[in-house]
Amino acid sequence: MDALVALTTRVSQGRLQAPAPDGEALERMFQAALRAPDHGALKPWRFLVVEGEGLMRLGEAMADAAVADNPALGQDKLDKARQNPLRAPMVIVAAARVVEHPKVPAVEQLLSAGAAVQNLMLAAHAQGYAAMWRTGDLAYSRRFMDALGLAPDERIVGFIYAGTPTGPAREPLPPVLAEHVRHWPQ
Ligand SMILES: Cc1cc2nc3c(=O)[nH]c(=O)nc-3n(C[C@H](O)[C@H](O)[C@H](O)COP(=O)(O)O)c2cc1C
Repeated sequence: MDALVALTTRVSQGRLQAPAPDGEALERMFQAALRAPDHGALKPWRFLVVEGEGLMRLGEAMADAAVADNPALGQDKLDKARQNPLRAPMVIVAAARVVEHPKVPAVEQLLSAGAAVQNLMLAAHAQGYAAMWRTGDLAYSRRFMDALGLAPDERIVGFIYAGTPTGPAREPLPPVLAEHVRHWPQ
């Protein structure tokens, strides 16, 4: 797919089925992700690829962390947490390693991780797959990050649900550029 077509037609798709990207397609997604701009060459990108049986384990870890963070959580919310990863054949946990740096503030390291996620999603789309970037409370739960084995200086920036679309993609509304872009000085 032409790069500009990929950039302007990507839409999030929450309904995803097998097959998940694999082999060379998955490798290209990570090659694209790791081309994100990166101030100071800190390479702050970390990804955990979860599929198959791992999705059940991820759901268990989510439910465990959710109830430990909030013991009053209702059974319905717990069940939802447990089921959430099963909405796609693959979940990629995207994380940023954020370190103290004299010239590169934490926000820039997080922005670089965000750019990597966008590259990853675009590369999925360009190869006929679809994805959706999700977060939620657990993305910010240190307990959950620890359960995943993330280091203390690593933090989740998103859960990227990836797979094959179940239907035609939504047509994105054409953006109103004037609401977001102006030339300066006028
Ligand atoms: C950092 C980040 C976190 C997000 N978290 C969620 C989420 O938890 N749940 C959700 O429905 N959408 C979430 N979104 C929005 C969707 O990924 C998506 O962008 C939105 O539904 C608009 O669809 P589009 O990408 O096709 O324009 C998040 C987006 C970003 C950038």
